[in-house]
Amino acid sequence: MSLRRLGLERIDLWQLHRVDPQVPEDEQFGVIAEMRREGLIRHVGLSEVSVETIRAAQVHVPVASVQNRFNPVDRGAEDVLEFCEREGIGFIPWAPLAGGRLAQEPSALTAIARDRGVSTGQVALAWLLRRSPVMLPIPGTGSPSHLEENVAAVDLVLGDEEAQALQAAA
Ligand SMILES: NC(=O)c1ccc[n+]([C@@H]2O[C@H](COP(=O)([O-])OP(=O)(O)OC[C@H]3O[C@@H](n4cnc5c(N)ncnc54)[C@H](OP(=O)(O)O)[C@@H]3O)[C@@H](O)[C@H]2O)c1
Repeated sequence: MSLRRLGLERIDLWQLHRVDPQVPEDEQFGVIAEMRREGLIRHVGLSEVSVETIRAAQVHVPVASVQNRFNPVDRGAEDVLEFCEREGIGFIPWAPLAGGRLAQEPSALTAIARDRGVSTGQVALAWLLRRSPVMLPIPGTGSPSHLEENVAAVDLVLGDEEAQALQAAA
């Protein structure tokens, strides 16, 4: 269905949005591996998964990316991030701005943003990019100016002291 909707012959990165709790995992991963063998998809990603689930999927198919919720104030997926780093799997943090709150409300990021003359959203994105080389944030926006501001965060490099202050605050 995705191929038809996108009008493609192959999807470069196809992500399983949620593992279906009603279907045995091996069955799901087996079908995904089959789609890859058939050439319908090139790389496979998972979303909202534990380390255990990633390992279970890797028995069937190489895992190229993992998309779990992660941002400076929500680090529940730290173990998954560290696993991805060891395995060379891209980690795509969804809600990198905590659903907008980190860009719009005062937080532990505000003082750093003020000192550096940037927005708090940019501090959040810079913190993510500094956190790991496998980090690929996908901030959501419907605003071109927010998009430009978010992309510019790539040029903001946080120092050790700033990163430690955020670590302590979270
Ligand atoms: N895998 C999953 O289960 C899952 C679940 C949820 C979401 N996602 C994906 O994750 C991506 C991002 O997540 P998300 O959109 O939920 O959360 P998010 O990126 O943390 O926050 C998006 C919100 O932040 C605001 N925002 C963005 N840039 C801003 C800026 N520079 N200044 C002020 N406000 C700003 C946006 O409003 P404006 O439009 O006004 O900029 C929007 O309301 C999306 O692509 C989504 O598809 C994946």
